[in-house]
Amino acid sequence: MSVELTRNGDIAVLTLNRPEALNALSFAILREIGSAFDEVAAMEGIRALLVTGAGDKAFCAGADIKELRHRPLMNQLTGAELGQAVFAKLDTLPVPSVALVNGYAFGGGSELALACTFRIASPNAVFGLPEIKLGLIPGYGGTQRLPRLVGEGRALEIIMTGRNVKAEEAERIGLVNAVAEGDLMEAGLDFAGWFTRYSLPALQFARRAVQRAGDLPLTEGLRVEAELSTMAYRMNDAEEGMAAFDEKRKPEFKDA
Ligand code: CAA
Repeated sequence: MSVELTRNGDIAVLTLNRPEALNALSFAILREIGSAFDEVAAMEGIRALLVTGAGDKAFCAGADIKELRHRPLMNQLTGAELGQAVFAKLDTLPVPSVALVNGYAFGGGSELALACTFRIASPNAVFGLPEIKLGLIPGYGGTQRLPRLVGEGRALEIIMTGRNVKAEEAERIGLVNAVAEGDLMEAGLDFAGWFTRYSLPALQFARRAVQRAGDLPLTEGLRVEAELSTMAYRMNDAEEGMAAFDEKRKPEFKDA
């Protein structure tokens, strides 16, 4: 298997395991990743998913370039649709996902990181959408997710120059949430710890509302927020959270 799914307590960990090719995304690996996301969605008691790459050199060097050559046009289209559909599964996963970017994250690798809810980088992480150097453009969501995260001007610059973005810059422009000072996996587990403290439905409502901000006009987005915040208010966990505040104690959320 080129993808490993393990469990560390209530955190699922998915590792791309093809270090000899810098964890490049063959179509077979993409399908494995899709199945692993489905498995995570069905896991009991999971609070977050960490996604990382095996080896100390690369998170993922992108689509497998050797596979991309000499393919009929329709296969290129279905290939892009496959990559997009697999990464889109992260949007509807019941738990938030965190990319732990341990080295190169190029092309489809950057796009996988962009599709995660959060990104934490090691100091040697390098992001890039270098497709333009191959005479291509990103095909697994990069042109859509990068501008939502860093703004249109910066996204256009990164995509149209194909230049590298090192960890420090990635943090400065909001491409990553943090650069880990010590061990990356420990930093990821520590960060995921936030999501073990709160009500899972409330976390889901918050994610869903923010996701919609990217594709709705303000008035419609505000309507979505009103509905989702009302649903959160109706959960038992909201009653428990507010009662705990009143009683000056820690809340005991039950995800209900
Ligand atoms: N596809 C297939 N194989 C890849 C690969 C990729 N994207 N990236 C690296 N590899 C393979 C190399 O061919 C090499 O294999 P061999 O030893 O069999 O030759 C092995 O991984 C190690 O790579 P390098 O020797 O190149 O390692 P390096 O340290 O010299 O360079 C690198 C590292 C700068 C990341 C370089 O490998 C590189 O530029 N890779 C390609 C990155 C890229 O262009 N990604 C975009 C792909 S297109 C895409 O992703 C489209 C999309 O939107 C989905």
